[in-house]
Amino acid sequence: MPDLLRRLSPSPFAACPTKRPRGVGSIRSLPYEAAARSRVHSRFPFPLAVAAALLGAGCELRREMYDQAKIEPLEYSAFFEDGRGSRLPVEGTVPVGHLRADDHRYLGLGPDGETARGFPEDIEVTFEFVKRGQERYQIFCSVCHGYAGHGDGMVVQRGFTRPPSYHEERLREEPEGYLFQVISNGFGVMNGYASSIPVEDRWAIVAYVRALQISQNATLGDVPPEGWAELDLRGVPSGTRLPEGGRR
Ligand code: HEC
Repeated sequence: MPDLLRRLSPSPFAACPTKRPRGVGSIRSLPYEAAARSRVHSRFPFPLAVAAALLGAGCELRREMYDQAKIEPLEYSAFFEDGRGSRLPVEGTVPVGHLRADDHRYLGLGPDGETARGFPEDIEVTFEFVKRGQERYQIFCSVCHGYAGHGDGMVVQRGFTRPPSYHEERLREEPEGYLFQVISNGFGVMNGYASSIPVEDRWAIVAYVRALQISQNATLGDVPPEGWAELDLRGVPSGTRLPEGGRR
């Protein structure tokens, strides 16, 4: 055992420093009441001075814990063959809560490895979810893709590569999993957002991109009759057949 200790640390019992850094030492050496009355008191709140005094005292009382043989993170150790002080987790170890077994949710892939259509099972696309996506989209994507997704954001107006419009047919037909993958991994000159946007929010953005696509390619029939009163129909040619219940 003593041999093991020697191998773990070259000097396992380094002395407790006799001189403390300026400003701390004076508190440590003063008795309780004196510390309260000292100049330190006028600069630090009293409880802080007491805590600092007790911490200082700990050096004498508990030095064997402070000085015990140990390996700091990333420190070299001759004890293990690979020379690493820190052990690597056993291969295949998954921290609790980090098992990403659902390929649809985490990779945008279906059961056969093809790009998934639709949203992962545990995600319900509600109005609130799409609203969340709108907020995230406007923060992360609108600078390039524009608020409505035409690819005319401010960064593009200032010279950055112009992205394709979400409203072109190819992108309207791409499955949801594809949009998720582009957001996660990036595409061409566009960066990936896996490290800055959590998985659930990426799906919320996908939902909002879908909403934008519908908004720019909607027909009158997509609007339920109760919403007709709110529509501005000035541009609609007269004679257009309106869905049942529609008014002009
Ligand atoms: C810094 C500007 C920028 C930002 C921010 C940005 N993109 Fe892009 N995006 C681009 C460019 C440029 C392209 C085209 C890349 C290319 O063809 O090389 C692109 C392409 C795309 C495409 C089309 C891929 C294809 O198949 O053609 C999608 C979908 C997309 N982006 C979604 C998003 C979403 C969603 C966000 C927000 C999370 C986002 N982008 C943020 C610049 C950006």
